Amino acid sequence: MKAKRPAAVALATALLSLLILLARRVQKMRAEPTALPYNQRLWAEFPRPLVSRTRLRKLLRPKAGQRMLEVGPGTGYYSLHTAGWLLPGGTLEILDVQQDMLDDTMRNASALGVKNITPTQGDAQELPHADNTFDSAYLVATLGEVLNKEAALKELRRVLKPGGRLVVGEGQPDPHMIRFKVLQGLAETAGFSFEERIGGPLGYFARFKR
Ligand SMILES: C[S@@+](CC[C@H](N)C(=O)[O-])C[C@H]1O[C@@H](n2cnc3c(N)ncnc32)[C@H](O)[C@@H]1O
Repeated sequence: MKAKRPAAVALATALLSLLILLARRVQKMRAEPTALPYNQRLWAEFPRPLVSRTRLRKLLRPKAGQRMLEVGPGTGYYSLHTAGWLLPGGTLEILDVQQDMLDDTMRNASALGVKNITPTQGDAQELPHADNTFDSAYLVATLGEVLNKEAALKELRRVLKPGGRLVVGEGQPDPHMIRFKVLQGLAETAGFSFEERIGGPLGYFARFKR
């Protein structure tokens, strides 16, 4: 009986140290956010029941013929579906800092016969589009990776048409996940008004109006 106690204490100490290390790592990742490297793209390819494409569609309310922007498409988990929701006549423009991500999405689109996606390499903090260009825009698991989130939201507001909608998706276990209340504060400061949310602390989509 007595011999078991040191082992239990050692295990508890090891677990606690691991938790502290993990918490420190997440804290650092949030303080100094960087884009998910292309060689770790597998993380962006897992299915997400709480941040699902069905939920995205519900909040985006896409219509045929619209011009839509996705910032940070990764390898196209959402884009390959969203593009189809805009047919006939609509276009999905995707913007990512990493050309490799865009190339991957475009390869996947071509394999599936999706033809209405236009890729642009660029930074969310300084969008290369003209004012009042898009009917709607969305970004999933991306805003947390952007250093200046306020600038990115202001840019999104600028490129949306008056009355245009922005949908943001965030979910665990993303270390950069932005809690809804924080997002709402940032979006309202950038000039958006909150409209609707689906989901909770583990994963949600929220829609804002320009
Ligand atoms: C975690 S991945 C998410 C990909 C995809 N939205 C998804 O949910 O599967 C984040 C993506 O945002 C891109 N990204 C990060 N910072 C960015 C920035 N400042 N401007 C544009 N794209 C950015 C990354 O390159 C990456 O493709």
